[in-house]
Amino acid sequence: MDLEAQIRRDKLPRHVAVIMDGNGRWAAERGQPRVFGHRQGVRAVRAVTEAAAELGIPYLTLYAFSTENWKRPRTEVNALMGLLVETIRTEVRELNKNDIRLHAIGDLDKLPERSYKALLQGMKDTADNKRMTLTLALNYSGRWDILQAVKSICRKAEKQAEALTEEDFDRALCTAALPDPELLIRTSGEMRISNFLLWELAYTELYFTKVYWPDFSKEEFYRAILDFQRRERRFGGLSAST
Ligand code: FPP
Repeated sequence: MDLEAQIRRDKLPRHVAVIMDGNGRWAAERGQPRVFGHRQGVRAVRAVTEAAAELGIPYLTLYAFSTENWKRPRTEVNALMGLLVETIRTEVRELNKNDIRLHAIGDLDKLPERSYKALLQGMKDTADNKRMTLTLALNYSGRWDILQAVKSICRKAEKQAEALTEEDFDRALCTAALPDPELLIRTSGEMRISNFLLWELAYTELYFTKVYWPDFSKEEFYRAILDFQRRERRFGGLSAST
């Protein structure tokens, strides 16, 4: 069955966020080191980016490295950072060809210098692209972002506390340039938010699949979109039929 053909183009989520999980387990099942799983994970990143852009989804955000991921063995952290540099360098041409802008959220200037530079260069080289914004969450955590937003609001002290609005808070978050996600996908069977986009996920539809990230293909992405399109979104209100 052609899943892509079943997707309604007038009911696409504007923003899909993804917790890419299961690279390590995928590799272990094959008797390979964890880094092998991350390498395969990059293929899935490519497939999903392509699928989202082809469908016409304007924003895709991928959780590539959390604030907590620094706790992993140094060799794995280094490998992930190396993979990031390598991937950005090799994919910029493809991003430009497909009119995709690279963007990033997180405590970015604390990344290793080489990764930070590659990231800035990748963002600069794709800054004029319009079809889709691909955001990598790097050294990101939802609580970190909420705390840095509070700090920046306090520092500026432009308003009385009572006058602060949700929109003011939105603007202080590192996701200010992005609409809230309409769909969150998490792979590998874990059913947690894990400190991702805590404020922004308030009304997001959640989709969990047992598939490990390296096996997450275009077809799996279409499945998630179709599931989203079957849901009724009420935002705390009542459904049209009641
Ligand atoms: C989770 O699997 C995955 C990560 C922590 C990193 C995701 C990184 C990539 C897919 C590759 C690099 C990405 C880009 C955009 C260049 P896990 O290691 O937690 O797996 P496990 O839960 O099975 O141990």
